[in-house]
Amino acid sequence: MKKITAAITGVNGYVPEYILGNQELETMVDTNDEWITTRTGIKERRILKGEGKGSSVMGIKAVQGLLEKTGTKAEEIDLLICSTVTPDMQFPATGNIIAEAVGAKNAFSYDMNAACSGFLYALITGSQFIETGKHKKVVVVGTDKMSSIVDYSDRATCIIFGDGAGAVLLEPNEDGLGIQDSILRTDGSGEAYLHMKAGGSRYPASEETLAKNWHTIHQDGSTVFKFAVSRMADTAEELAKKHQLSGDDINWLVPHQANKRIIDATARRIDIPDEKVMMNIQRYGNTTNGTLPLCLWDYENQLKKGDTLILAAFGGGFTWGAIYLTWAYDAK
Ligand code: UT7
Repeated sequence: MKKITAAITGVNGYVPEYILGNQELETMVDTNDEWITTRTGIKERRILKGEGKGSSVMGIKAVQGLLEKTGTKAEEIDLLICSTVTPDMQFPATGNIIAEAVGAKNAFSYDMNAACSGFLYALITGSQFIETGKHKKVVVVGTDKMSSIVDYSDRATCIIFGDGAGAVLLEPNEDGLGIQDSILRTDGSGEAYLHMKAGGSRYPASEETLAKNWHTIHQDGSTVFKFAVSRMADTAEELAKKHQLSGDDINWLVPHQANKRIIDATARRIDIPDEKVMMNIQRYGNTTNGTLPLCLWDYENQLKKGDTLILAAFGGGFTWGAIYLTWAYDAK
């Protein structure tokens, strides 16, 4: 029997309409376009407006478009995994809400949280269900409404994040295309440097947690930056070396979009020139679980069957990792 690999057979993205540009941020906090551009590479990000709208709103749009593009019936989906740090609610899972809205009646669905590395973790988790032969169609959707947990008076953090979602379809492949290998890592000591303190079981919402501003992201930016640069680059390099992939062998680096300087450092380490690095941070900022699928969506037309891709991410936890995959289809 031929070995089954899990291949991405379609990708779709969704970003909300409202554009929060650097100029508008200048009116909100003490910052300026030049600082944001040179320190992060970000020019604008999208914000989901409207009362009662959570991350599922964007996830639903991303998955609906994915099913349409790939000609997939919602009832055919076996499993839907949603990676998010901004679920609509503590429970039920945002994945359940998305599955219900798209009509995935035969799927089981759940959420995963590995902060900015969530999509990497979810993609590898979804791929295992395909590789065993148990499931034929798995949707992995990354969605985050980061604007719901950003403190817009903290200039070092609010300039980075934006809202968005992306989704991929995973299907079995018997020609060796799809996910080849991965290295995923965690270091829980990172909690101190990147977290949202309240709203969970340790500090449920109270007047005190609100007064202390514990329901928004706390980030020690420069510490996270140093870890991100070394860990993301180390892991991408380790994976490339393990498979004897030189810069020439790799067609695309698909990096988490947190800071252009982190992306550049990772690309340099594995010897990838700028034109082979997917980058949309200038338009969307850091959409956390949305960054990787939004990159694949933006660059889908340039991807060819057989292309070698390295996906890499770093995030809260700390969590980080890299995936080596072979693209399975030519752009239509
Ligand atoms: O995706 C999840 C993981 N997250 C990341 O990977 C983010 C990693 N960290 C970063 O991207 C960067 O650390 C930031 C973009 C968050 C901050 O950039 P930085 O170059 O590390 O700046 P810094 O925090 O070291 O601050 C340098 C200076 C400070 O001023 P002084 O103390 O030197 O006078 C800050 O107060 O820049 C100041 N500053 C700003 N100035 C203008 C911080 N934020 C701003 C701002 N506008 N928005």
